Amino acid sequence: MPTIQVHLVAADGATTTLSGRTGDSLMETAIAANVSGIEADCGGLMTCATCHVYVREPFAAQLPAPEPDELAMLEFTAAPRSANSRLSCQVALAESLDGLTVDLPDTQH
Ligand code: FES
Repeated sequence: MPTIQVHLVAADGATTTLSGRTGDSLMETAIAANVSGIEADCGGLMTCATCHVYVREPFAAQLPAPEPDELAMLEFTAAPRSANSRLSCQVALAESLDGLTVDLPDTQH
């Protein structure tokens, strides 16, 4: 599996850079690396919204549009929802997303 680099920027500005395998979700990549700021209580079943991230451009525009279930769950994020809010369990890593940068909300609960 090819790998790409992803950058997760915490609310305090600290950036964690990870190698992620294409096909894995951003959430899986962050959880495997124990990144604080991504909770993922439901394990990717799209029932918790504790994997909320804000995706920076140009990547936000490259992602497939959220499915209705993701949009519905985004109503329940602990931190304010923004136009670039996504559930990281629904962001599948792809070679075109190398350098993907997301901001982490200051809270997931
Ligand atoms: S991990 Fe629960 S909604 Fe993404």
